[in-house]
Amino acid sequence: SGRFTYDPGFTSTASCESKITFIDGEAGVLLHRGYPIDQLAEKGDFIETCYLLLEGELPTESQYQEFERAITYHTMVHEQLNYLYRGFRRDAHPMAIMTGVVGALSAFYHDSTDINDPEQRMIASRRLIAKMPTIAAMAYKYSMGQPFVYPRNELSYAENFLHMCFAVPAEDYKVDPVLARAMDRIFILHADHEQNASTSTVRLAGSSGANPFACIAAGIACLWGPSHGGANEAALNMLMEIGSVDRIPEYVQKAKDKNDPFRLMGFGHRVYKNYDPRAKVMQQTCHEVLNTLGIKDDPLLNVAMELEKIALEDEYFVEKKLYPNIDFYSGITLRALGFPTTMFTVLFALARTVGWIAQWKEMIEDPSQRIGRPRQLYTGYPERPYVGRGER
Ligand code: CMC
Repeated sequence: SGRFTYDPGFTSTASCESKITFIDGEAGVLLHRGYPIDQLAEKGDFIETCYLLLEGELPTESQYQEFERAITYHTMVHEQLNYLYRGFRRDAHPMAIMTGVVGALSAFYHDSTDINDPEQRMIASRRLIAKMPTIAAMAYKYSMGQPFVYPRNELSYAENFLHMCFAVPAEDYKVDPVLARAMDRIFILHADHEQNASTSTVRLAGSSGANPFACIAAGIACLWGPSHGGANEAALNMLMEIGSVDRIPEYVQKAKDKNDPFRLMGFGHRVYKNYDPRAKVMQQTCHEVLNTLGIKDDPLLNVAMELEKIALEDEYFVEKKLYPNIDFYSGITLRALGFPTTMFTVLFALARTVGWIAQWKEMIEDPSQRIGRPRQLYTGYPERPYVGRGER
């Protein structure tokens, strides 16, 4: 019509202004509030990254202490929430449980759903960041048929999460600091990624004035798809299907075949047309975890490294600028940490919650914010008269 442009997938439409995350996809750069992701992942911790994303600056020592204490204070979930879990079939996908339980939080914490009250917004943000590990661990425990494990507030964020997932009443469980550090790093790497599908979903849901718990549930639902958060699960399944190095060429060929819908999972990105800076840190973390656990010669890692090498040299991938993304190595790492593939996207959702909530908060506080309402190009019938059922 000339009044708006046709932009499927919103590849060239900026839907908002944001000061949170900067990506230069051509150069392979990712900055949060100006700080490079690799520096945050190597020198900082997840709590610090949360504070940075939410508040705009790295915390001072006292700000850090206060924030960590506040997050720790909110780690428990309402005891009645247990019943909600028990209503799910025990073989339910944990992402299905997450979508339901997080959406239901607004029924438990209605004292932090007034989006116009800055204090309530802050409490909702902190509750979400604090409770996500508990909710995710409960989903895991439920699927395993094991009792829920309560949070332990003397542990760090990542340690506490591993504890809630892997401690069982019959045994002593001690979290390995190297593995906790790897978990923390995985959380940092997934914390935010500007206006991807799930974040845009959170903003769109929030633009109508929906409460923050409902908005985050919408984000979780969107993240579930294999082209987005489900890619780490899909990437690991693909590596297992390939199975051995000698079968790689066959799969590379399949990925290049125009008539075959198969894609190399963990390769390519809408924004990065260079090596994803998170993938580099992830690869290094993957090696650290396997070394700590004494896993030598992991067949999946061998397939992954060889596949990466072959694809990076292949004309098709070079020409289309398809590089490994963060999901390529995260699956192997999470599997080594002890998580089943169905939990991979759950971990992504846990870590991304801070990004979603920071983006939601920024939107609510932006005076130019309006309800999201994309336009369309109508390609259906022009007006036509109604025909009675007997005459069709
Ligand atoms: N394997 C083989 N070919 C590919 C791949 C791949 N993984 N990714 C893209 N291509 C080809 C695609 O066929 C197309 O070719 P042509 O121009 O000849 O039609 C071209 O590259 C451009 O692809 P596109 O689908 O137009 O690119 P997009 O920006 O819409 O898609 C993507 C990005 C991530 C969905 C896609 O690269 C993909 O499906 N990758 C595999 C799934 C994956 O790893 N997803 C995780 C994304 S990162 C984590 C996250 O943000 O959640």
